[in-house]
Amino acid sequence: MPKPKIGILSGSTRSASMNRKLCAAMAHIYSSMGAKTQIIDLCEYEMPLYNGDLEAEEGVPEAAVRLIADLTTCDGVFISTPEYNGCMPALLKNTIDWTTRVELGQFTGSIYAIGSATPGALSGIMALRQLHFILTRLGAQVVPTQLGVGLYGKAFNDKGQLADAGTLSRAEKLAQQMLSAIKSAR
Ligand SMILES: Cc1cc2nc3c(=O)[nH]c(=O)nc-3n(C[C@H](O)[C@H](O)[C@H](O)COP(=O)(O)O)c2cc1C
Repeated sequence: MPKPKIGILSGSTRSASMNRKLCAAMAHIYSSMGAKTQIIDLCEYEMPLYNGDLEAEEGVPEAAVRLIADLTTCDGVFISTPEYNGCMPALLKNTIDWTTRVELGQFTGSIYAIGSATPGALSGIMALRQLHFILTRLGAQVVPTQLGVGLYGKAFNDKGQLADAGTLSRAEKLAQQMLSAIKSAR
């Protein structure tokens, strides 16, 4: 059986993004469990802010079509979202909104898992709740374990891996749930 392919997407494109760092740590965990990983970097899928007039004049951005094509080759997708004012960031919402203008089914073929890294202790629970809501509304199967990483200044060791044993164990549980769900779906 081919190795499962896991897409890993950060909702922040900031160069020093902690959600990117969490994505890299998750890629390491998935690889150690025998999966193939692909970083899906939103810098490579730049889209304008959604506007109905723009869509009518120019259609859906090529980047949205390409993103769907890339997402649908993945058996699983891990998304790490920042939290901005208690919400998922505009970048992530705008990206998802554009993809739904192409087709609605693109989230139904892969298993999703979600995480968030924040500087404060609350670990993105409000953004995670929103991301979970929108993904399930679009028909995605989202694994039950979510990975909130709070106080991110102390969360990673010098190799970029999760430093806290409890958080690492939660990350492994999330990855295991995804890989089991992919196996059951095959
Ligand atoms: C406009 C704005 C609003 C923010 N609101 C929150 C928030 O509600 N909760 C939170 O934990 N952090 C909040 N932050 C801090 C972000 O979590 C922090 O900037 C984080 O590093 C962003 O993710 P990144 O490192 O992946 O880019 C906010 C940051 C910005 C710029």
